[in-house]
Amino acid sequence: MGLYLLLFGITLFWFFFKTYLHRSQTTKLPPGPTGLPIVGSLLQIGPQVHESLAKLAKLHGPLITLRLGSITTRVASSPETAKEILQKHDQNFSDRHVPDVITAQPNPEATLGWVPGDHRWRNRRRICSTQMFTTHKLDSLQHLRHQKAQELVLHIKKHCSSDGVPVDIGRVVFATTLNLISNTIFSIDMVDPEFESAQEFKDLVWRIMEDAGKPNLSDYFPVIKWLDLQGVKRHIRPSYRRLHEIFDEVIDKRLKDRVLDSSRSGDFLDALLDQCEEDGSGFNRQTIKPLILDLFIAGSDTSAITTEWAMAELLRNPHTMQKARNEIMQKIGTNRLVKESDIDQLPYLQAVLKETIRLHPAAPLMLPHKARNDAELLGFTIPKGTQVFVNAWSIGRDPKYWENPLGFLPERFLGPSPDYKGRDFEYVPFGSGRRMCPGLPLAIRMVHLMLASIIQAFSWRLPDGTTPESLDMQEQFGVTLKKAVPLCAIPS
Ligand code: HEM
Repeated sequence: MGLYLLLFGITLFWFFFKTYLHRSQTTKLPPGPTGLPIVGSLLQIGPQVHESLAKLAKLHGPLITLRLGSITTRVASSPETAKEILQKHDQNFSDRHVPDVITAQPNPEATLGWVPGDHRWRNRRRICSTQMFTTHKLDSLQHLRHQKAQELVLHIKKHCSSDGVPVDIGRVVFATTLNLISNTIFSIDMVDPEFESAQEFKDLVWRIMEDAGKPNLSDYFPVIKWLDLQGVKRHIRPSYRRLHEIFDEVIDKRLKDRVLDSSRSGDFLDALLDQCEEDGSGFNRQTIKPLILDLFIAGSDTSAITTEWAMAELLRNPHTMQKARNEIMQKIGTNRLVKESDIDQLPYLQAVLKETIRLHPAAPLMLPHKARNDAELLGFTIPKGTQVFVNAWSIGRDPKYWENPLGFLPERFLGPSPDYKGRDFEYVPFGSGRRMCPGLPLAIRMVHLMLASIIQAFSWRLPDGTTPESLDMQEQFGVTLKKAVPLCAIPS
């Protein structure tokens, strides 16, 4: 018996050794730092992950291997490597590596952003693309968004009657963005337009963004994730549950209205409920709530911080603010508020937004992709199951592709220039390929509308004691790339 066991053991060992030897002879993994035992390069990375990864890319090359705890990650930091992952091997990298905190929500398998790129994901993307983000659908509800932009201006106006009081730009545009999205999905406000009462929805979404952005040991050491050592999942779970309850209330009310009146409001909720009524569509009440939640989470903070960064850059570069304002005054004037349909006439404002998301992409590492199978990329092997990041932040600042890469120069986008729609890999703030941001058409409308409205209605200055040169532009890395110190500015 003992001899058989020994022989069995030797055979097993030989088999694994041969497999390992064969693999290491035939595969060339991307280079990277060695890292420390157990923690790998975790300590080296620090809190500004996007920046540390950019520095490592300078040392080791545009495609690196990095061990973070027990997880091995690959990071692409050049247009060429981004193109390989997001275009050439698009299908192979269309799965997601899912952070542990995401699994704390009810029915995480029904989300859009966190499921593998299979037929269920395709079904959800299709309904969003055809029922929410088409020009026709967005145009049909733009009057609701114009109203929200007007309320933002009125709120700031009220605020500036007490002269010299700074406005926390990020705070007011975040609340406005939630209402812009909720009016596109539900045709109702989820936050009190006066920003005073009914703040629960805003606080819940905010809390989820904060919790999801915290570095979590469970992601670096999955064997101990069941312990939830930092309590991140325990903390986030009630916020997810409460948001589902709020969605239930909205859905109940809409279902009652649909019984009483067969006409439809034409918003996304109606489209989803129509799908729920179709047999075999894969949509029901339990699966539409995570999808709706994903749209709020993915769309609100990203669009709000982009508006905040744009205002920060404009205040830091007063001549660009003046140019943007002049353009609005010349093309639209002051007799009426800006509309989404005016944006085509405002090329400088469009260039301001493009330059803002080049320097401050809201999702600097996109969302984590995952290799479905082994892939050969520029002579390196990316093994099946690997987590892959694309560093959109460092790509947008690459001096090989961008002249004066750290300067805020909207003019570079006035002539023929790269486009953010996923075709030019030196500029991928919305990603590219099948997992590219589906909300781009709405994001662009919302950010332009908010920016143009507050630039048209007010002239802005920095609080006393802050000069354009001393304005703090530090970043805070999380799920999104926030401004570390919130932007406060004085309207008049
Ligand atoms: C300035 C604003 C925005 C930026 C910069 C942005 C950027 C991105 C990026 C980089 C990705 C990941 C792409 C990848 O991993 O390959 C993404 C995914 C996503 N975005 Fe956006 N986004 C913005 C606004 C929005 C809005 C307004 C919505 C919807 C209301 C939205 C919904 C989504 C969803 C659902 C995904 C996941 C898509 C999937 O996995 O299939 N985003 N976004």
